[in-house]
Order: sequence, then C-alpha cells, then structure tokens
Amino acid sequence: MFKKPKGTKDIFGSEMQKWQKMEDCAKQVAKSFNCNEIRVPTIEEASLYLRSVGDSSDIVTKEMYIFEDKGKRQIALRPEGTAGVVRAFIENGLFSQPLPQKYFYVANNFRYERPQEGRYREFAQFGVECFGNQSPWAEVEMMQMAIEFLNKLGIKGATLFVNSIGCEKCRASFNNALREFAKANENKLCEDCLVRAQKNPMRMLDCKVETCKQALAKAPKLSEFLCDECKTHFALVQKLLSLNDIPFKVDENLVRGFDYYTKTVFEISAEVAEGKYLAIGGGGRYDNLVSEMDGPQMPCVGFAMGLDRISLMLDEQPSNIDVFLANAGDVSIDNIYKIATKLRQQGFSVECNLTDRSLKKQFVLASKLGACFVCTMGENELKNGTVNVKDMKNNTEKSIKTDELVKFLKSALN
Ligand code: HAM
Repeated sequence: MFKKPKGTKDIFGSEMQKWQKMEDCAKQVAKSFNCNEIRVPTIEEASLYLRSVGDSSDIVTKEMYIFEDKGKRQIALRPEGTAGVVRAFIENGLFSQPLPQKYFYVANNFRYERPQEGRYREFAQFGVECFGNQSPWAEVEMMQMAIEFLNKLGIKGATLFVNSIGCEKCRASFNNALREFAKANENKLCEDCLVRAQKNPMRMLDCKVETCKQALAKAPKLSEFLCDECKTHFALVQKLLSLNDIPFKVDENLVRGFDYYTKTVFEISAEVAEGKYLAIGGGGRYDNLVSEMDGPQMPCVGFAMGLDRISLMLDEQPSNIDVFLANAGDVSIDNIYKIATKLRQQGFSVECNLTDRSLKKQFVLASKLGACFVCTMGENELKNGTVNVKDMKNNTEKSIKTDELVKFLKSALN
C-alpha cells in the first residue's frame, strides 16, 4: 500500500469543511479590503528564493525542496508566497498600474522541516501583499485584515506581536554590535550561529537552539540602534494600532526568518493545541525587495496566515445539504431525479436516492447527510403532482405542489 509522503496530509470529510470555511472567510475578508486574487506557479527558479528570502535563512539553507529539471534548471517548490508574487508583480509590469495594489492568495508551500503537530512539509497559507504604500497605515491595514480573518473564524485568544527591525542603515550598526557580541560569546553559540555571525548576524536571533536562545537574550537590542525615521515609523504603527483598538505586544526579539523585511515585522501566536503555542501568522514590511529583484523602488507590506495551524483551532463544522429526494412504493427514480435536476439548476445542494433502498434507509441516509428537507414522492404524490416535504429540524411535514417546490424551498432556506 502506498503512503503519503512524511509531513503531508489528506484532507476530507469534516476536516474539509474546516478548510472550505477558512477559504471562504479568506476570500470574504480579502474582498472587504479590496484585495484581488493572484495565482503564481508552485515552482520557481530556485535563485528567486536565494535572492529574496536570503541565502542565510533556514528556509533556504535547510528547508527548501530543490531539484534539477530535465532542462538542467534549478527549480524550487514554493517555500513561501511573497517572492513569487513580487516576481509576478515585476515580470508583468504591474507597477505601472495605479498604486497601491493589494493581492491575496491561498496557496500551498513546501518546507523540509521535522514534521510534528502544526508543522508540515506541505502546508497552506492565506497571504496578502500590498504594493506601493509607505504609510504606517498600510501595516495597520494588514494586521487588521489578519485579525478580522481570525475573528470571522471565531478564533479567540490569539496575540499579535510587533517589532521593528529597522532599515539597512540602522541594521549595519546593529549587525556590527551583534558580531562583537558573538565573538565575546563564541563558546555559548552553536556552529550555525557562528556562521550566521559572519554572514548575517541578525539571523542568530531566530536560532531555535535553546543554549543560543539563552545566550542571545543578553545580546544588544535592535531598538537601541533604530534610526530616527524607523523609530518614528514604528511609533506611528503602534499609535495607529491603539487608535483602532487592535491589541498588540512589542516583542523586541521578533526578527522573523526572512531577509527581505525592513521596519515593521509582526507575528500572531495562539494555543493551537493544549499547551502548544505556535505562530499562526506573520508578516511585515519589505520596502527594498522589489528593487532588489530588479523592479522599481516600491514600499511593500504583507502577511500570511498558516491554515494548517488555524484548522487545529477550529471546531468541527456541521456538514449539510439542502434537500434529499426520496422515492417510496412503486415510484421510479426518474420521477424524483427530474425534480433533483431542477433544484440543482436553481442552486440548491441536493442528494437524490438512486438505489433501491427502503424509505426508512433513505431517511437514515438523509439525516446522516444533514439534509434540511426530505422531499418524498410516493404513488399518491405522483398522482397529485405533489411531494411530501419533511422539515428535518422541526420534524414537521407538508404536501407541496411540485411546481411550487422551488419557491417554497427558496423562502424556507433563506
Ligand atoms: P511565515 O512566518 O514563514 O511567513 O509563514 C506564515 C505562517 O505559515 C506561519 O505563521 C505558520 O502559521 C505557517 N507555517 C509556516 N511554516 C509552516 C509549516 N512547516 N507547517 C505549517 N504551517 C507553517 C511567510 O511565509 C511570509 N511569506 C509572510 C509574509 C507575506 N510576509 C510578507 N508577506
């Protein structure tokens, strides 16, 4: 028997209901913030991620799925959504259209991580990227959208953490200070961190090794190195969040695992399973990425929510259909199938009995399917041009003329 690859999932049944709800909510929230959907390939040139996410990030150095295709190209499976959307924005000349522009996606990503609950090798994100807005309002809008998405799903108890990682100017002196700190604490840092200290010292701050975490808790703080512009920007972001009643906490150690961020970064954490706190979303500003990828100078900000982790927090969703069509006695299926076709064309979700099971068994099936109404046609109904309509919730029945069924169901299911 074949088994699915490690760290992947099959989604079906009641779990699928959760995914459909998440996808519906994502689309509704995105629409309410005037975001247009964008779909980009699942595969990209591997170098796209080296340039954008960064060649010292864990995602690129350890977790990316890379292969050589038959044309000897180095191809990567998408490890995150931002780089591909930015590539599409530049390649399709979207920057010449009116700004700002906001795009959303619901897409699968691939990271070769050690699988555990809430961490998979294939996982889905609802993400949004906003191009061409340098105002702190843009960050606030993105964070609000992430929170609205969780609210719509009925998720409570999530915490929004924010920080500023400054711009290239303030980061140069911070990186120097971190390098010196690493030199003085060489014996307390892991091999990877010693390499990071040379290549990209800020990456040490998201090292997952416990001893490094402890040592780095005493490292210099980025807030002490922010330039005036970054300081003012971050103060405004915080002020606007408060003004809009969006609760948040400043986390000075939040740096995020991508090289493309500038200024504001944020993460939303929640208890996804008992005692297990994980990031359920994250994002930030990336004002230099578009120009670094050969596009124009373009302030940008975005975020992505991890749908697999959020699904762990959702209650089982009830599944139901509008109508189950049953036949009784000698009434043949073709009589009820015709009604089913008519109802389906009107947009109702319909299951029609297509086998010779007893009426009792049809009712058992109808209630398993969560049918709101069961419409039965027996010999009397066939003769009178009616159906017997049972309201499964209220346990009431009535006879309805077949030609009036659509009208009845429309008002009853409204
Ligand atoms: P990220 O923080 O890497 O950001 O991912 C966003 C969310 O995806 C995480 O908070 C988490 O919920 C989920 N996630 C990440 N890895 C896994 C995994 N292995 N298994 C399950 N869920 C996972 C980004 O990807 C950025 N592109 C976000 C962004 C958009 N920044 C600006 N624009």
